Amino acid sequence: MKAIISSEYGPVEVLHYQETDPPVLADDELLVRVHACSVNPVDWKIRKGDAKLLTGRKPPVILGGDYAGVVAQAGKRVTNYAVGNRVWGMVNAFKGGTYAELVRVKEEEIGLMPGNLGFEEAASLPLVGLTAYQSLIYKGRLQRGDHVMVNGCSGGVGLAGVQIAKAKGCEVTGVCGTRNLELATKMGADHVLDYTKVNILKDKGVYDIFFDAVANQSFSRAKGTLKPRGAYVTTLPSFESMVLGPLINMISARKVQSILVKPSSGDLNTLKEMVEEGYLIPVVEEVYPLEKVREAHTRSETGRVTGKIVLRVD
Ligand SMILES: NC(=O)c1ccc[n+]([C@@H]2O[C@H](COP(=O)([O-])OP(=O)(O)OC[C@H]3O[C@@H](n4cnc5c(N)ncnc54)[C@H](OP(=O)(O)O)[C@@H]3O)[C@@H](O)[C@H]2O)c1
Repeated sequence: MKAIISSEYGPVEVLHYQETDPPVLADDELLVRVHACSVNPVDWKIRKGDAKLLTGRKPPVILGGDYAGVVAQAGKRVTNYAVGNRVWGMVNAFKGGTYAELVRVKEEEIGLMPGNLGFEEAASLPLVGLTAYQSLIYKGRLQRGDHVMVNGCSGGVGLAGVQIAKAKGCEVTGVCGTRNLELATKMGADHVLDYTKVNILKDKGVYDIFFDAVANQSFSRAKGTLKPRGAYVTTLPSFESMVLGPLINMISARKVQSILVKPSSGDLNTLKEMVEEGYLIPVVEEVYPLEKVREAHTRSETGRVTGKIVLRVD
C-alpha cells in the first residue's frame, strides 16, 4: 500500500510518500480502506521528536490519528461491522497509522460515519471532536446552562468545543483572532473575545468551565475567571495539571484538569448523532492530496489553521 512514512525525527523533509507493507489484522480488528485522514498538531510534534516519551516508538513510523473510509476486511471476532460499511474514527494518535491507504482499527474504537458527511469532512472530526467532548463532559462535568469559555475557538478542537457546548444548552464565550470573529459567532459562540485586542482574563468569576483548547494559559492564570466551583481544562497536560492538580483539587473548589483523548465508539456515536442533527458541523480549511503532506504539515505548524487540514487518499 501507499503511505506516508516519517523516516526520522526532523523537518517536513523526513515525510515520504512510498510503498510499504499493509497492516496485518488481528481477530478483533478491522482493516479500513482510508479515503481521507486529517492533520493534527500531535502529528508534527511526533514527527519532530517532541513527543518521544508518549509514543514509545522510534521512526520510521506512519503518522496520523484520524480516518474516514470503508471496511475492507473484518477479523473473525468482529461482530458489529461488515465489509463495505462507511466508517470513521481515531486511532491512538501517538501510535498513528492513518496517513495510509489501509489502517487496522479495533472494533471498540470505530464508528459508522454520519450519513450526511462525505469522507473528507468526516475525517476532520474524530480526534478534535472526541477531545472537546471528553474535555467538556468528563473533565469539566459540563451541565446544561453552564457558561463555557473556549480559548482558541477557531482551531480544530475549539470549533468542536463551541458547538458541543451549544448543543448541550450552554452559554459560550469564544476566544480567537480578528479574522475568525465572524466564524466563531456563526458556529454558535454567544460572545467572542479578540485575543489581539482584549485581555481574555479580565472578567472575574464568570465561567463554569474554562476550556483551554489552544493551551496557552494555566490554572493559576485562569482561575480568577472561574465561578467558585468552576473547572479549568487544558489540552496540554503539564506539571501543574498532572502533578500539582490532584493536590489543588483536594484543597480548592475550583478544579484543574487536563485531557489525553482516547478512542471510543460510544463517544463517536454521540458525535455522529450531533452531526446528523445539525449541531456539529465540520470546518475544513483545505484538502491536500496525501502526497502533499509536507505542505499540509507546514500549514498546520503555523498555528493559524481555521478548523482542520484534511488529506485526501485517492
Ligand atoms: N491532549 C489531547 O488529547 C489533545 C488532543 C487534541 C489536541 N491537543 C492539542 O490541543 C492544541 C489545539 O489543537 P487544535 O487541533 O485545535 O490546533 P489548531 O487547529 O492548529 O489551532 C489553530 C487555531 O488556534 C488559534 N490560535 C492561535 N493562537 C491563539 C491565541 N493566542 N489565542 C486564541 N487562539 C489562538 C488560531 O487562530 P488565529 O489564527 O486567529 O490566531 C487557529 O485558528 C494543540 O496543542 C494540540 O496538540 C491535545
